[in-house]
Amino acid sequence: MKYGHFDDNRREYVITNPRTPWPWINYLGNEDFFSLISNTAGGYTFYKDAKFRRLTRYRYNNVPMDNGGKYFYINDGGTIWSPGWKPVKTELDSYECRHGMSYTNIKGSKNGVEAEVLFFVPLKTWAEVQKVKLTNNSKEVKKLKLFSFVEWCLWNAEDDMANFQRNFSTGEVEIDGSTLYHKTEYKERRNHYAFYSVNAPIQGYDTDRESFIGLYNEFSEPQVVTEGKPRNTEAHGWSPIASHYIEVELKPGESKDFVFVLGYVENEEEEKWEKKLVINKKKAKECIAKFDTVAKVEAALAELRAYWDNLLSIYVVESGDERLDRTVNIWNQYQCMVTFNMSRSASFFESGIGRGMGFRDSNQDLVGFVHQIPSRARERIFDIASTQFEDGGCYHQYQPLTKRGNNAVGGNFNDDPLWLILSTTAYIKESGDYTLLDEMVPFDNDETRSKTHFEHLKASFDHVINNVGPHGLPLIGRADWNDCLNLNCFSKNPNESFQTTENKTGGTAESVMIAGLFVVYGRDYVELCKQIGKNDEAARAQKEVDKMIDTIKKHGWDGDWYIRAYDYFGRKIGSNECEEGKIFIESQGWCTMAGIGVEEGMVEKSLNAVKERLDTPHGIVLNNPAFTKYYIEYGEISTYPAGYKENAGIFCHNNPWIIIGETVIGRGNNAYDYWKKIAPAFREEISDLNKVEPYVYAQMIAGKDAFKPGESKNSWLTGTAAWNYYAITQFILGVKPAYNGLEVNPCIPADWKGFKVTRKFRGATYVIDIKNPNKVQKGVKSLTVDGKAVAGNIIPIMPEGKTYNVEVIMG
Ligand code: BGC
Ligand code: NOJ
Repeated sequence: MKYGHFDDNRREYVITNPRTPWPWINYLGNEDFFSLISNTAGGYTFYKDAKFRRLTRYRYNNVPMDNGGKYFYINDGGTIWSPGWKPVKTELDSYECRHGMSYTNIKGSKNGVEAEVLFFVPLKTWAEVQKVKLTNNSKEVKKLKLFSFVEWCLWNAEDDMANFQRNFSTGEVEIDGSTLYHKTEYKERRNHYAFYSVNAPIQGYDTDRESFIGLYNEFSEPQVVTEGKPRNTEAHGWSPIASHYIEVELKPGESKDFVFVLGYVENEEEEKWEKKLVINKKKAKECIAKFDTVAKVEAALAELRAYWDNLLSIYVVESGDERLDRTVNIWNQYQCMVTFNMSRSASFFESGIGRGMGFRDSNQDLVGFVHQIPSRARERIFDIASTQFEDGGCYHQYQPLTKRGNNAVGGNFNDDPLWLILSTTAYIKESGDYTLLDEMVPFDNDETRSKTHFEHLKASFDHVINNVGPHGLPLIGRADWNDCLNLNCFSKNPNESFQTTENKTGGTAESVMIAGLFVVYGRDYVELCKQIGKNDEAARAQKEVDKMIDTIKKHGWDGDWYIRAYDYFGRKIGSNECEEGKIFIESQGWCTMAGIGVEEGMVEKSLNAVKERLDTPHGIVLNNPAFTKYYIEYGEISTYPAGYKENAGIFCHNNPWIIIGETVIGRGNNAYDYWKKIAPAFREEISDLNKVEPYVYAQMIAGKDAFKPGESKNSWLTGTAAWNYYAITQFILGVKPAYNGLEVNPCIPADWKGFKVTRKFRGATYVIDIKNPNKVQKGVKSLTVDGKAVAGNIIPIMPEGKTYNVEVIMG
């Protein structure tokens, strides 16, 4: 069953039934100021950091789910309703939510009144704009009472839901005309406040939650709304909110618009006050003035649309399958922007207080984003590299506000350093800009300990070779990509974290996955060294890569597939010898992508084993058989019930590793089949089962051993976005940035007749027409640029500013 449909022309998903199987959300804001918004207007807002600068309150784990948000209440002669159905849940005569590129438009109607609310964060603005349009479609005059509502968070989202003994006494607000200010802690250590305004005179307001809602009421029936009368309260402590009250009279056929602005201001110390205890409102007023008419709001929205038109014109496929096209051209790229912005911090599965920016996560997110805004990717690469240590190790996570490594989580996830090579080479291939390699970048954020960015890459590479175990394979540390394979943890205590605890020391657990990863990014490092003339370093590195390949062949092969790891005691994990967890996806992915033993048939055997043992109708599971008991020597992986998460769930992040592996041996049919199983638009018809948004990938789909195979969780913030974008655009459709041009090497289902890709690359536009007359899965027979034959399959870099027609014949 579906709950809506795609509107590709407008790049929107249109939800027509508010009772989606889970809140289906969207993200507003692209740089500093963000909101999460569900299809019923639930969600919250923050500035830069969902933990330290949360503007509005949100209660995760609420009953019912997703209660609290940016609510409007309409009291129409005693009938009370909300345009997004919730929170009032009065049955609406019509409902529609359109989630678009960084905006959401929610429209509801009741008894002849239509209310349409557009939510977005304009470019370069620290505010969310909400345009409310009320229309009277009835034959009578309507006298409506409109109430807005947001609940302030006391800034630190973690403290906000824990430290009530203090929090109930600190809340402070100011009221000034139609603007309600939230200034808790402003008079001491904070230099920021928030505001909520409307571009019309108000007939009342409330800023104290208990007065507005009523101690015994819920969001669905605030006493003030029911009574139709604001109380004009000024909050002192307890829970400050902001609610405007506006009386609106509409003649038949008449419409009125109101623009609400929910914003954030920072003031310099000496400019904090207008007079004693009265905040300096200058910046707030300036921001409000920018959006005080409908025309200004529409212009800001048009700018936002143009921004997305531009971003989404960089890679456009025309394949003839609208599900493929909308995924590649719209939603996958959009999700990549969101994961770039959020890493794994704030979603409806990530509370915004747990994880900041992940070292490995953010590096990987970059490969799906770098073509959109290379300059932002460049900045991010430095932020990440600054959390590295001289020995190449790094903090696993850092906070976006401070950009400092997170001490509580620490480091020693031994795959982490390698991902920096991926992000850096992806950036250079996209932009052609090598200058970042010479920039001085600190270690551990300490400017006095800076080296060039190239030295950071070298440290990343060396970190692996300096940390190998008895078989010559990389030591795993606390975990590799699989956060739940904790081979030095040995935890019996439910109060300790699997990721940060090492109860046994001196272990020699090794990871074949990191070995495969090292071969892939080690080769990239070698290639980069050659590009910049560091031939000795290239030769040194190549030797190490070759050695690792031999080691994998010798100690990483189980006969029919690659072993996953060696545990603390040196016993195989992911081997036919094991009782459970005989085969794992990660090492099959990395070693096939690296082509290890391809001549000896190892790659093919491994991929066949994946097909036979891990493939399911909903995607490829992580391991098989699933673990059915706790293996203390394996850690968190064996704690999950069979079929979920890292224990034999379909981890959509690593499915593309197999997809790319399939393209190494030219099996385009398999590659595409695997991709379709997890691609959201292809799962839209089974939305009831799939549960989460049909426009974005989920981190995990329940595997074949689960209670409900095919049910998805953890949508939005996942490496799945970048990896699938990378796999589909660069390996299946096969248009891939290279140092010296644009490589074309598709690997597609044999029955495809062809497709077209328009790619903007280093200032020029390439319209690439790929034809498959011989029904092959892989192979480029000829390539012409503007009719002229080019040897090989790389389109050379052409002069900027022009469009070039490229014809590619597969065969
Ligand atoms: C989750 C992983 C996550 C890890 C670290 C585990 O419980 O399953 O997906 O990466 O915790 O936060
Ligand atoms: C989610 C994490 O964000 C990612 O870094 C990790 O690799 C996967 N979980 C797998 O455990």
